[in-house]
Amino acid sequence: MNMRLGAFVLLAILIPSHAQFTLRSWGDAHALANAAVAQMTESEKFGIVKGTGQLNSQRRCVGDTTPVPRLGIPSFCMNDGPAGIRLTKNVTGFPTGINAASTFSRRLIRARGQAMAEEFRGKGIHVLLGPAMDIMRNPKAGRGWESFGPDPYLNGEGAFETITGIQSVGVQACAKHFLANNQEHWRYGLSANMNDRTMHEIYFYPFLRSIEAGVTSIMCAYNRFNDTSSCHNAGLIGPDGLLQKNGFQGYVVSDWGATHDSAADNANAGLDMEQPGDFIVIGGGTFGGLIGIGGLQGAVDSGDVSKDRFDQMVSRILAAWYRLGQDSGYPPVNFDAQKPDGSGSRNLGVNVRTAEHTALVREIGSASAVLLKNNRTTMDGSPTGSTIRGLPLDKSRIKTMAIVGQDAKLPNQNCGDLNECNDGTMSIGWGSGSNSLEFIVPPIDAITSFVGSSATITTSLSNDLDAGANAARGKNVCLVFANAMSGELGFYDTVVGNQGDRNDLALWFKGGSLIERVAGVCNNTIAIVHSVGPVSFSWSNLPNITGIIYAGAPGEQTGPSLVDVLYGMYNPSGRLPFSIADNESDYGTSIVYNSDGFPDINYSEQLLLDYRYMDVHNITPRFEFGFGLSYATFGYSGLSIIDSANFSKIVSFTVSNTGAVAGTEKPQLYLGYPTGAGEPPKVLRGFEEVELAVGANEVVTLTLTLRDFSIWDATSQAYVRPAGAFTVYVGASIKDIRLTGTF
Ligand SMILES: *[C@@H]1O[C@H](CO)[C@@H](O)[C@H](O)[C@H]1NC(C)=O
Ligand SMILES: *[C@@H]1O[C@H](CO)[C@@H](O)[C@H](O)[C@H]1NC(C)=O
Ligand SMILES: *[C@@H]1O[C@H](CO)[C@@H](O)[C@H](O)[C@H]1NC(C)=O
Ligand SMILES: *[C@@H]1O[C@H](CO)[C@@H](O)[C@H](O)[C@H]1NC(C)=O
Ligand SMILES: *[C@@H]1O[C@H](CO)[C@@H](O)[C@H](O)[C@H]1NC(C)=O
Ligand SMILES: *[C@@H]1O[C@H](CO)[C@@H](O)[C@H](O)[C@H]1NC(C)=O
Ligand SMILES: *[C@@H]1O[C@H](CO)[C@@H](O)[C@H](O)[C@H]1NC(C)=O
Ligand SMILES: *[C@@H]1O[C@H](CO)[C@@H](O)[C@H](O)[C@H]1NC(C)=O
Repeated sequence: MNMRLGAFVLLAILIPSHAQFTLRSWGDAHALANAAVAQMTESEKFGIVKGTGQLNSQRRCVGDTTPVPRLGIPSFCMNDGPAGIRLTKNVTGFPTGINAASTFSRRLIRARGQAMAEEFRGKGIHVLLGPAMDIMRNPKAGRGWESFGPDPYLNGEGAFETITGIQSVGVQACAKHFLANNQEHWRYGLSANMNDRTMHEIYFYPFLRSIEAGVTSIMCAYNRFNDTSSCHNAGLIGPDGLLQKNGFQGYVVSDWGATHDSAADNANAGLDMEQPGDFIVIGGGTFGGLIGIGGLQGAVDSGDVSKDRFDQMVSRILAAWYRLGQDSGYPPVNFDAQKPDGSGSRNLGVNVRTAEHTALVREIGSASAVLLKNNRTTMDGSPTGSTIRGLPLDKSRIKTMAIVGQDAKLPNQNCGDLNECNDGTMSIGWGSGSNSLEFIVPPIDAITSFVGSSATITTSLSNDLDAGANAARGKNVCLVFANAMSGELGFYDTVVGNQGDRNDLALWFKGGSLIERVAGVCNNTIAIVHSVGPVSFSWSNLPNITGIIYAGAPGEQTGPSLVDVLYGMYNPSGRLPFSIADNESDYGTSIVYNSDGFPDINYSEQLLLDYRYMDVHNITPRFEFGFGLSYATFGYSGLSIIDSANFSKIVSFTVSNTGAVAGTEKPQLYLGYPTGAGEPPKVLRGFEEVELAVGANEVVTLTLTLRDFSIWDATSQAYVRPAGAFTVYVGASIKDIRLTGTF
């Protein structure tokens, strides 16, 4: 251990989590970067633009660069992932991106970004490899849960707030995966093909919001876009490409091994950094010289890549580091991703968890739980009477309880670095977007501890159907748990027969049958679903199912966050960030599983994803986008739309709590375009979080900017306002519209 690292161990305990740093303007940052580049040797520059190698035993993070000590430039540490630090101990397992989206709360999405980044900073990580903002084009997409669902606006707000939170503590965010990394099968070479308008309005939109949030780095994807590899697609990443035309000032880094072409092709197209630097299996590693003789060095020597371009690559990377003040007082790396169990002399035992982070994870877990059904009946018929069925549970009246399903229990912790843990509760999917299960509190532990001696609990923590029914028979309340999981394809395993993308929308391990069997013998069955995305709810109308909670993939405080919702300490306010339909064909897209070589995937559905497709095709989903119940009820009134400066519209309305308990409503604004604009009937363009005491009301004001009510015009290459009348729909979900106005 060297002196500098040794000194940090003490510091880490003393420094407050809200790190101080100086945010520089991009102009100043680029000037400092250019000055540093001017002093660097050619070999020092190569060390900045190329990872040190996946197979390099000196590597400490998922990706590192080579330091330039004489100029005070450290090895830049880049690490997974988008829901918390992976590959080390003493870190928090945060809720997934899709659960962040489920909160419909900018406040919580931003707080999650900040809290995650405080931990990354504490471990000395310069770049948090997230957020992911790949549109969930199909509900079975393996990594869909890492981002914010199928809606571009929600993804855009999720990306904006997450990046703002991350960079607020001086950690670089990395917007990924650019562009259209929407399925796992064939991802290393499939081509996502789409027209210009679809690209701008759907797939590029979250990246545009990322640039507006000042994101310092963007990761190009494994797949091709319009037949050209994303990492050498000048139309995407080049000087005249999408990113720079929209004001991006940072650097583009390849996904790990996503460099499929020659060093000169990639560098000239706009790729600034290649990671991990030696990824040989799938054809990457070109800056190091694997493809083409001499790699980048050879290309610079021969003039195929100009010295100016080479300098610019280095400069863009250094500028991001200067921009966030990482050149001053940044903690050194104090962990070793090559020893994720925390062993070895390079893991310095720094604990970056805090009580605040744990509380936030618990709050987001509760705030993202979506109450889908609640048939609450009370003894005396009044809303405040003692509950005998439905939610919230009444601790004083429940004497016997069954807890059924393996999803209630602790998963095996020894399921590998990618968290392919599927024999217990599902709190996160698998792959590089996964996080730490070290401190996970499973539902069974949290419920048992809360119930104490107030009730007898009978458990059946396998998915054995007969055993589950036997445990449930005759109980006052039966909590039955089921799940579905997906993850990243890699060189990794197939998990329960699924290669990244899910094979179907069924609950895993006969979870649907388990729920039906429990409901067959228990007239107060509460179903809890932990899933990475939409699943089949064919059983949801069974009369004995008195409550359904869709809890998503909520991270490590899964048990406590669920207890808070079940017992009414937290009034549910989660809203579905996707629709739940009965049939995969209701979504209008598919995953290409089988192909004779890398497929061309034509995004022929264009703008019609999820609710947009269902609306056009008159498909009524079982549970619609934006839907979620509360223990309170809410009223809407007084819609007004006024013109404002710069062509924007100010939409305001009043939300009131008409229920018997305090609660939080998530009003949503959908826009209907003039006929002829070529837009779906309704598109999300706003949402708000409104916390209301019993009887209270609040005026909500949402702003629609000119861009919000424009469409992408491929001819003029700009957002253009279509002529005609617009309709503003305000409501509690896309199907529950309470107020309508026009402008
Ligand atoms: C992708 O291809 C489509 C169809 O040929 C075309 O309309 C669109 O402009 C292309 N987009 C880009 C960014 O090249
Ligand atoms: C975890 O943190 C504790 C201090 O809270 C420390 O004693 C321990 O060594 C750390 N373990 C690892 C593996 O980092
Ligand atoms: C049960 O709850 C659902 C939604 O929560 C509602 O649509 C249905 O009418 C309720 N049924 C009864 C019998 O209360
Ligand atoms: C539910 O079942 C219990 C016995 O398990 C019975 O006592 C109760 O009356 C039933 N409630 C309803 C509403 O059917
Ligand atoms: C509901 O549960 C009761 C036991 O409380 C059972 O007798 C009845 O058959 C169940 N109803 C259905 C439709 O499964
Ligand atoms: C799902 O949709 C397909 C195609 O429309 C249809 O053939 C199939 O019967 C549907 N399945 C169910 C369960 O409704
Ligand atoms: C996609 O479109 C291209 C060009 O029109 C066509 O050759 C290809 O077969 C299409 N792919 C699929 C999977 O439909
Ligand atoms: C008006 O909108 C344009 C385009 O969105 C923007 O560039 C400009 O800064 C806005 N001006 C004001 C005063 O908000």
